[in-house]
Amino acid sequence: MSDWRTYDDVAETYERVHASRFEEVARDLIDMAAFAENARVLDVGTGTGVVAQVASDSGAAVTGIDESVGMLRVARRERPKVPVVAAQAIDLPFGPGRFDAVIGSFVIAHFNKVETALFDITRVLRGGGRIAFSSWADGVDAYQQTWRELIESVVPREMLAPAYAEAAPWHERFRSRTAFEEALIDAGFRHVRTEVFKYQWTYPLDEYLDGLQIWAIGRFVRDMLGESGWASLRERARATFTELYPDPLNDFREVIIATATKPS
Ligand SMILES: C[S@@+](CC[C@H](N)C(=O)[O-])C[C@H]1O[C@@H](n2cnc3c(N)ncnc32)[C@H](O)[C@@H]1O
Repeated sequence: MSDWRTYDDVAETYERVHASRFEEVARDLIDMAAFAENARVLDVGTGTGVVAQVASDSGAAVTGIDESVGMLRVARRERPKVPVVAAQAIDLPFGPGRFDAVIGSFVIAHFNKVETALFDITRVLRGGGRIAFSSWADGVDAYQQTWRELIESVVPREMLAPAYAEAAPWHERFRSRTAFEEALIDAGFRHVRTEVFKYQWTYPLDEYLDGLQIWAIGRFVRDMLGESGWASLRERARATFTELYPDPLNDFREVIIATATKPS
């Protein structure tokens, strides 16, 4: 197995469970980004290429980058027309002013060094260029609470917080519109704007449970328990969810989309 901090081992599940749903967020993000039709766009943390594809369909010339080779492998297979490159957001392999827009969906909370990453993103963006980033805005809902309780019955809580801090260190910070806006203003952007979007996604129970393994805590716990331990946790989760909630599950989520412009 790969390092649990990466998305390498969950790429297929990500694509199967989440890609089509997160495409809705991608469309709102591209609308808000409001770049010209033939803009040169960089999608940071492109994953399996969901947002890059939507941007490309809008007429942009898009390149995706991601640190996870597993995610990029799926992106190349599923969205072969979008070029993707393995790279880290703090060390982008592009010259200054190379892009008209830089976008990134559900990635900013992952950056260990947010300020350094935003600095490098600013470098590859031309003056007057646009950025658009998204992050989860909501707290823990009933489904997530149930899952959390199941997890805490097998892994001590003290072990979970550091794991989360390692894989998605800024998850809490970027749940706040104000904090998001401040981060972009501090990075030198202008016309900073945030909006909260609400989504309702319906998941058959088994698909929802499969999808839980892609998040940082799921990856960490699966790595800790090994495949058979994970399978028995999933069985217990299935029984608990069946008792508590009708199948399919209706997941209500809130997402912040932030846009801004680099001064000319
Ligand atoms: C939640 S996924 C989002 C994927 C895609 N943007 C989407 O909306 O479907 C986060 C992605 O960001 C990537 N990622 C996290 N930190 C990164 C970094 N510092 N540099 C490049 N990619 C990163 C992960 O490998 C993962 O593919």
